[in-house]
Amino acid sequence: MPQTKSHTTLQVSASGALGPLTPEEALLFEKLDLERLPRHVAVIMDGNGRWAQQRHLPRAAGHRSGTKTARSTIETCARLNIEALTLYAFSVENWRRPKTETDFLMQLLREYLRREMPLIQRNNIRMRFLGRSDELPKGVQDDMRDATERTSGNHGMVLCVAMNYGGRAEIVDAVNAIVAEQNGHAGRAEITEESVARHMYTSGLPDPDLLIRTSGEMRVSNFLLWQIAYAEIFVTETLWPDFNRARLFESLIEFQKRERRYGGIREGQPHPEVSARVVGK
Ligand code: FPP
Repeated sequence: MPQTKSHTTLQVSASGALGPLTPEEALLFEKLDLERLPRHVAVIMDGNGRWAQQRHLPRAAGHRSGTKTARSTIETCARLNIEALTLYAFSVENWRRPKTETDFLMQLLREYLRREMPLIQRNNIRMRFLGRSDELPKGVQDDMRDATERTSGNHGMVLCVAMNYGGRAEIVDAVNAIVAEQNGHAGRAEITEESVARHMYTSGLPDPDLLIRTSGEMRVSNFLLWQIAYAEIFVTETLWPDFNRARLFESLIEFQKRERRYGGIREGQPHPEVSARVVGK
């Protein structure tokens, strides 16, 4: 069947793009339908501290190890041709941590951007930063601006790093931007779902289809509150530093098992009382 053949060819070339797979990864990869991957994956990278604690290491070692997981997740998603990946690196609430830790995390991001730029460029990734960047230390802001500019001509996956990000802060910022824009116009303010979406930090990107949270907490922690309205949520007990490629494949396989109804009803199952509802977005 031509359809099966082209699908097989796609799988072979995509797995080739991923480099050598371990036997576990190969088994999982076979279960993935590459034509039904999420367009946008968002990740709450949690559990670095616990990972370090279990090994009697300082928390910083957990964060360092977490950067390695970030690298494999970024490269794998880019090579699977996922449109956008958003990583929650630092929330507006994270300032409540000891200064030594927040300083370390700022330094780690700067180091990360410097060290990973060749990988980002090699994979044709465009970088964006989500959050109140103007409240970050000047050196961090400079490096973020530099990374955004240097990758602005790339056309592959969009990698968003949420830095000093808060979901409520984002909505407040969007509303303020709309008010500022409309103050210049006479007449009634027209605020619609579309105009709010256009003013969010993620403007122009599809909403996440899949939200992954590592280390087992059942919370969204002020992350992409507007955008995850219809996201499938995948929570795993795995701590972020242990979230390797096999675990990522598992989350994508789980996503593909979910039935997405967007408030409608299952296709092929008409319901007389709600027959006017539309399935899908
Ligand atoms: C949550 O673990 C993790 C963070 C607050 C920092 C995330 C940062 C990284 C993974 C490294 C930087 C990544 C990039 C892309 C620059 P936690 O400290 O809350 O863990 P715990 O809940 O076990 O204490």
